[in-house]
Amino acid sequence: MDKRRIMVLGSDGYLGFPLTLRLIKRGHTVLGIDNLSTRRITSKIGEESIFPIPSPLARDKKLKELGDFSFKRADITKENVIKSAIEEFKPDTIVHFAEQRAAPYSMRGEEEAIYTMQNNIIGTMRLIYAVLSTDPDIHIVKMGTMGEYGTPNYQIPESAYIEITYKGRSDLMPVPKYAGSWYHWTKVHDSHNLLYAANLWGLKITDINQGPVYGSRTFDMILDNEVDKSLLTRYDAGETFGTIINLLAARASLSYLNYLKTKEKLPIYERNARTKRGYISLQDSINSLESLINNPPNENNFRVVNQFHEVLDSTYIRQKIQDFFIQNYDYRVPVAYLKENPRVEKSDHYYEPENSILKNLGVKFEYTFESALKDIINDVIRFGENRLLKYKDWIGVPKTGWRKNWKLEIEKIEY
Ligand SMILES: NC(=O)c1ccc[n+]([C@@H]2O[C@H](COP(=O)([O-])OP(=O)(O)OC[C@H]3O[C@@H](n4cnc5c(N)ncnc54)[C@H](O)[C@@H]3O)[C@@H](O)[C@H]2O)c1
Repeated sequence: MDKRRIMVLGSDGYLGFPLTLRLIKRGHTVLGIDNLSTRRITSKIGEESIFPIPSPLARDKKLKELGDFSFKRADITKENVIKSAIEEFKPDTIVHFAEQRAAPYSMRGEEEAIYTMQNNIIGTMRLIYAVLSTDPDIHIVKMGTMGEYGTPNYQIPESAYIEITYKGRSDLMPVPKYAGSWYHWTKVHDSHNLLYAANLWGLKITDINQGPVYGSRTFDMILDNEVDKSLLTRYDAGETFGTIINLLAARASLSYLNYLKTKEKLPIYERNARTKRGYISLQDSINSLESLINNPPNENNFRVVNQFHEVLDSTYIRQKIQDFFIQNYDYRVPVAYLKENPRVEKSDHYYEPENSILKNLGVKFEYTFESALKDIINDVIRFGENRLLKYKDWIGVPKTGWRKNWKLEIEKIEY
C-alpha cells in the first residue's frame, strides 16, 4: 500500500479524529488542521460531548506517540491558511471535514445561519483555490451529506449528472437537490462549487454524500480488548449536535440511569415522522473513507459517492432502541409524542438512493444499526454516565424549531 501524505481539515471532530487515528496507524503521514470551533460552540450552547475528550494538546501528544502526525490550530476560511499548509506539508490528499455540521444549529436564527453559510462555503472555496494555486494533482475528499438530495420521489443517483427532459428536449444537468436546513444547503452549494472547479480546471475531487453516522468507537481505539479512553472521539447527545441514533441511544440510557437513581422515568421523544435516511456506523464511515483515499478517481475526475449502509426510518430506530432496553435491562423507556414535528420534513415517503461505488471498491460493512447498539449503549453508560445525569435537561430534548413559533409540546406519553 502506498504511504501517503494526507491533510485532514477538521481533525479534532467526531469523524476527523478517528480517521486521523486510522491513517497514522496505517503508516501515512498526517497534518491535522482544526480551529476547535465544535468544542467552542458546543460548550457555548451548553451541549458538550458526553464523553470526556482529551484536551487538544493531550490529543496531539498521543497521536504523535502513535504515528507520524502534526497539528495546526487554524481557521481554514482565512486567507493563506490552507495554501501555506500545502506549500509546507506537500500533501497528495486533503480530506475536508472542517465545517459547521449541525443542522439545528444553522436553524437557530439569523446569526447561526449566516455563520454556517460563511464558514462552510468560504472554507471550501479557500480549499479549491489553495489546491489550484499549489498542486492541482492533489485529491480532494470532501465530506457532504445525503441530506443535500432531500427526499425525492425517484431513485437518487450516485453521479454528478442526470438526464433531464423538458418539453421534448434532453440534456445532462447536475443532479437536482433540495436540502432540508441551511446547513444542508451549504453542502449543496459546496458540491456545485466543487463540480464547477473540477470542470474548469480538472481538479481531482471525491464529493461524498454521507448519511447520519452512529457509533461510539472504532477498532483503532481498542487496546487489549478494552477501549483506550484517551482515544475516544466526541459523542454528541444534545439535539443541536447529536445525530439521531447517538442522541436516542443516549436519551434512552439516561432514562434508565435516572430511573435506577430516582425511580423517575424520563421519556424519549418521538417526532411522529417516519423519516427515512441512509445510515452508516462510525467504523464503516472510516473504512469507506480509507478506501476512497486509497483509490482516487481515475476515469472521471469528479466522483460522487453516496456513503451509507442501511436505509432506516426514525420510528423504527426509536422502537429498536426501546426493544434493546427491554431485552437487556428489563426496562421500558417511555415515549413522549410531540404535538408537532419541529422539523419540516416528509413522513412515510419513498427513499431509494443508489450506492454501489463503495461496494465496487470492496468495502465490506462491519455493522448494522442493530449490531452496533450493544457497544454504543455500553460505552454511553460507561463513559458518559456522569455527564448524562448532570446534563439530563438537554440530553436528547428537542429545542430548535424549523417552523416559526414551534415549541416543545407533548401530545401524550406512553409508559
Ligand atoms: N457526523 C455525521 O453524522 C455526518 C454525516 C454526514 C456528513 N458529515 C460531515 O462530516 C464532516 C465531519 O463531521 P463531524 O461529525 O466529525 O463534525 P465535527 O463538528 O465533530 O467536526 C468538524 C471539525 O471541523 C472543525 N472546523 C469547523 N469549521 C472549521 C474552520 N473554519 N477551520 C478549521 N476547522 C473547522 C471543528 O472544530 C470540528 O472539529 C462535516 O463536514 C459534516 O458536515 C457528518
